[in-house]
Amino acid sequence: MTHITRKQDITPILDETFRIRVDETEVDAVPGESVLSTLLANEFRRIMKNDYGQSSGAFCGMGVCHCCMVSINGRHKKRACQTIVQPGMEVSTCRNRVVEGAEQNV
Ligand code: FES
Repeated sequence: MTHITRKQDITPILDETFRIRVDETEVDAVPGESVLSTLLANEFRRIMKNDYGQSSGAFCGMGVCHCCMVSINGRHKKRACQTIVQPGMEVSTCRNRVVEGAEQNV
């Protein structure tokens, strides 16, 4: 499994970090931040795939637009901006059961 280093933090990280798994990659997360913050700090931009197969990034960052839905610990359609990151968390981006089901039926 690969590990990538955070590159998008505005200020130095002072807290201890821990690792979570995003797709097939391990990334560093900071206690108390949202899953969306972790994804953006680690340069995951396109995180959601809608029912038409289009991928997008988060928009509002405050729980309103539903453009940040990812799979967290096997549970689909969790808002990344409204979920606090936890040690050992597994996040899958660009997953959509509707699209994946459609692909399986073709
Ligand atoms: S970014 Fe809008 S709901 Fe999460």
